[in-house]
Amino acid sequence: MTTYTKKRILSGMRPTGKLHLGHWTGALENWVRLQDTYSNFHLIADYHALTTNPDTSDLERNTIDMVIDWLAGGIDPTRSPIFRQSQVKEHAELFLLFSMLITKARLERTPAVKDQVRDLHIESIVYGHLGYPVLQAADILLYKGEVVPVGEDQLSHIEITREIARRFNNQYGQVFPEPEPLLTSFARLPGLDGMERKMSKSLNNAILLSDPPETVDQKLRRAVTDPAKVRRNDPGHPDICLVFKYHQKFNPTEIEDIRSGCESGDLGCVDCKKRCAATINEFLSPFHERRAMYVSDTGRVMDILRDGEKRAAAEARKTMDEVHRVMKLG
Ligand code: TRP
Repeated sequence: MTTYTKKRILSGMRPTGKLHLGHWTGALENWVRLQDTYSNFHLIADYHALTTNPDTSDLERNTIDMVIDWLAGGIDPTRSPIFRQSQVKEHAELFLLFSMLITKARLERTPAVKDQVRDLHIESIVYGHLGYPVLQAADILLYKGEVVPVGEDQLSHIEITREIARRFNNQYGQVFPEPEPLLTSFARLPGLDGMERKMSKSLNNAILLSDPPETVDQKLRRAVTDPAKVRRNDPGHPDICLVFKYHQKFNPTEIEDIRSGCESGDLGCVDCKKRCAATINEFLSPFHERRAMYVSDTGRVMDILRDGEKRAAAEARKTMDEVHRVMKLG
């Protein structure tokens, strides 16, 4: 008889505080769905947050805000441990060991790190930031993650994880799987300021999962639409309109009606946006109910973290025992 064990997923986010609709469509929705078929570990990458910002004054608040959104979105902490990277010290050790297996030149070629340096106008990169993908490899391989749900921008990091796993296994013996990326099905969600930029809190173009209905209405009212549709009855071009994108995601049953109304000129942008806000608010309503429960009881959130950290640490220690054995380190 064979016992069926579920494949292991390791997913993670940096603790950036409250999440927005782009996080939902790009990651969280997928994580929630995947917890039925996989054994899932959810990592809060608080060490990674320090690579671009050493200031820790908002770290705890941002961590709690993000975890509340994970829980309100449907992550079940009894099935899938939620834990802070910094509370499982094995991440630091494996990061150090892996850093001997990859060259500085290879890391300097990582596109995701290069993009960050450009976008954040970093003049001279700190040592730890260059090691960002090495730490991420440690995150994944410490739990022998086989599948990593990510956005397209993270593919170069998964490639480095695979290289490190191969190099380790060749050097010391077979310990690690070579993880596969799992791309999210819905491509990036545009922000409220146009189709070119993705939704992002720092660009101030995001609808937060925690935004109350009035805020969603107001944000949508100001959203950029097809510039050719100036007057109500002008024919519009839904495929270049971000509000139509939101309809596609959150209002699929009305999508044909919206398309034909926009194209014929029967549906004006003001009404179209109202309908869009209504469906987003309907989608967010159960989320807000669950959210309120955790906001009023952050002690419970901390308990969930501590429990997740115990379970993650047990798993991490098992892997490190194997690592020590094959490396003949004690
Ligand atoms: N780099 C990821 C991001 O910015 C966060 C992250 C850290 C991560 N460790 C991870 C994602 C491990 C997946 C697996 O989104």
